[in-house]
Amino acid sequence: MRWAPGRAAYVLLAAALWCASLTPRAAPDLAADRAALLAFRDAVGQRLPWDAAAASPCGWRGVRCDPAAARVTVLQLPGASLVGAVPLGTIGNLTALRTLSLRLNALSGGIPADIGSCTELRHLYLQGNQLDGQVPEGFFDLGLLQRLDLSNNRIAGGVSPEFNRLQRLATLYLENNSLNGTLPSNLDLPKLQLFNVSRNNLTGPVPKSLARMPASAFDGTGLCGDPLAPCPTPPPPPQPPVPAAANGSISAKLSTGAIAGIAAGAAVAFLVLIAVILFLCFRCQRTMAEKSAETAADADLDGSPVSVTVASMDMKNATRRSSQATAGNNAKKLVFLGEAPDAPYDLESLLHASAEVIGKGWLGTTYRATLEGGATTVAVKRLRAAPIPEREFRDKVIALGAVRHENLVPVRAYFYSREEKLIVYDFVGGGSLCSLLHGGSPERLDFEARARIALAAARGVAFIHSAGPRSCHGNIKSSNVLVADARDGAYVTDHGILRLVGAHVPLKRVTGYRAPEVTDPRRASQETDTYSFGVLLLEALTGKPPVNSVPGSTGGVELPLWVRTVVQEEWTAEVFDASIAVEERVEEEMVRLLQLAVECTDDRPDRRPPMAEVVARIEVIVRSAELKAKADTEDDDFHSISP
Ligand SMILES: *[C@@H]1O[C@H](CO)[C@@H](O)[C@H](O)[C@H]1NC(C)=O
Ligand SMILES: *[C@@H]1O[C@H](CO)[C@@H](O)[C@H](O)[C@H]1NC(C)=O
Ligand SMILES: *[C@@H]1O[C@H](CO)[C@@H](O)[C@H](O)[C@H]1NC(C)=O
Ligand SMILES: *[C@@H]1O[C@H](CO)[C@@H](O)[C@H](O)[C@H]1NC(C)=O
Ligand SMILES: *[C@@H]1O[C@H](CO)[C@@H](O)[C@H](O)[C@H]1NC(C)=O
Ligand SMILES: *[C@@H]1O[C@H](CO)[C@@H](O)[C@H](O)[C@H]1NC(C)=O
Repeated sequence: MRWAPGRAAYVLLAAALWCASLTPRAAPDLAADRAALLAFRDAVGQRLPWDAAAASPCGWRGVRCDPAAARVTVLQLPGASLVGAVPLGTIGNLTALRTLSLRLNALSGGIPADIGSCTELRHLYLQGNQLDGQVPEGFFDLGLLQRLDLSNNRIAGGVSPEFNRLQRLATLYLENNSLNGTLPSNLDLPKLQLFNVSRNNLTGPVPKSLARMPASAFDGTGLCGDPLAPCPTPPPPPQPPVPAAANGSISAKLSTGAIAGIAAGAAVAFLVLIAVILFLCFRCQRTMAEKSAETAADADLDGSPVSVTVASMDMKNATRRSSQATAGNNAKKLVFLGEAPDAPYDLESLLHASAEVIGKGWLGTTYRATLEGGATTVAVKRLRAAPIPEREFRDKVIALGAVRHENLVPVRAYFYSREEKLIVYDFVGGGSLCSLLHGGSPERLDFEARARIALAAARGVAFIHSAGPRSCHGNIKSSNVLVADARDGAYVTDHGILRLVGAHVPLKRVTGYRAPEVTDPRRASQETDTYSFGVLLLEALTGKPPVNSVPGSTGGVELPLWVRTVVQEEWTAEVFDASIAVEERVEEEMVRLLQLAVECTDDRPDRRPPMAEVVARIEVIVRSAELKAKADTEDDDFHSISP
């Protein structure tokens, strides 16, 4: 059979038409998403390494798609040097987006007015830009939003009552903007867990539904009422009673029953008040002695990132008193554990050492003491006054001194007298993990450095655990992880001190690291160590201090809970500390470490992995990160972009 040429042409034409009609129907939306992304890049992100030749945007950095729907669902470009205003018809056209993160860039202008078209958005992170103008009206069409962070921008105008339309919001961060006016009094977001409007020009009362938020969520505003101080001009007492009182009939009714009631009530209240005062006075006397020690410790929980205060006099006074005590007390001496140091020193030379406070906490104060001549520097822990019998102290410290491992700070010597108990450690120079993370320059610690420090600390703790099922550290926290330098050594210190001192004095310990099953902080176990270590991992990854761990701040985060709420639906990059979140090449390792941390902080002790397993898993993560760093040294285009 032969085809007539006319007929062949007709068939070809038909096929071409069919194809033409099919192609746009096969991926119409993905093609539109691609066009919108390219327009976005042209406007604000010329340095994004997106391959414009690729037919699909799904492989581009920061872009993820839902293959079933053939749409872009995630756009995450934190710290990617985006500059300028986001034009209409770009983000607003990505109508299947569920997660949008453009935080830590230099975006300016307003929030794009057409963002309301992205009605699938659950997570929106625009913090750390220079966005200004008001929140656009269409914004409140985003009824599925769960996490919204607009903090650290210049967003102006009032907080609209329309926020009530975002009923699923669990996180609302608006701090450090230029919002003004009052908060809508009927604001009510039932799922809201994390909220912050600090550093805005807001005034007036805090809405009732927000009274349960911590006061620090409103820092630096002119707001008042619960949880802040009462509003300065409380609404004048309602007037109705006055005319009523002036009107004979009601006051007559009051006079009989009610007045008697009021009088009786007042009398009871007066008696109660007296009782309370008496009780307080009694308590006051009884605990005065305890108090003086406690308040000192209260004010400065361990791990002050506020670095070093020079306090050499204090140290000298301490040791001088000790040496006086010594004179009348069988001339007690500094006792060395293991071999004596190359350049031996004694109590007398500690007394003349120049000393600085490097840490204060519940269990005592730690000084750095540089001995005369400057050749030797040691860390001296002056324990909190506690009536520990000498024998017990000696035995326990000797046992601690016998625990030697390359990731544990060795105990070198001790001094015991009734008034003073000193423990001498090697001095580690680089500061604690706590001061490195929260002391002002966390960007010095990239992910790999954090992972290595965690690995070293895990090895130290695992070694303690390897001594037997009841052997544990008891007080793991970032201020007890000392770093020699960010690349290499890290050491765990303070091992066993909690048990040593804690057995003899009442304790209230830093709560942020404490496992939920712990009611008595002295009852540490390997499982509670693992929990504390998990919190420490979370702290290193998120850059946030755990609750109650930084002196003088009511802030801090219930880290395990917070991380769980953020990662509930999907692992987003949003939990990570801003300064490591940009390291996309190790994102996988970060997520794995995060996952490990979440396992360590499981509420059920038996579900937490043993420390030996924790060590093995961090080793794998560190090795993988190192390999990537090596492979990436040539191809470091994207990562060298910094905000
Ligand atoms: C966004 O969508 C609108 C309407 O569908 C369209 O006219 C516009 O070209 C799109 N923008 C881009 C950059 O594709
Ligand atoms: C407040 O936001 C601006 C950006 O608008 C930022 O530069 C600044 O560091 C922020 N302040 C604080 C305390 O975070
Ligand atoms: C708050 O208002 C004052 C005066 O009205 C203004 O000078 C200041 O810049 C405003 N602060 C912010 C963060 O907008
Ligand atoms: C809030 O600031 C805007 C300008 O950003 C101004 O027009 C408005 O009057 C202010 N409102 C109040 C209540 O101060
Ligand atoms: C709110 O943000 C400020 C920083 O602007 C911070 O100091 C404060 O601790 C935060 N409070 C809460 C509850 O997040
Ligand atoms: C008392 O009540 C009477 C009527 O019940 C009313 O006429 C009068 O104005 C009232 N007096 C005052 C002071 O309100």
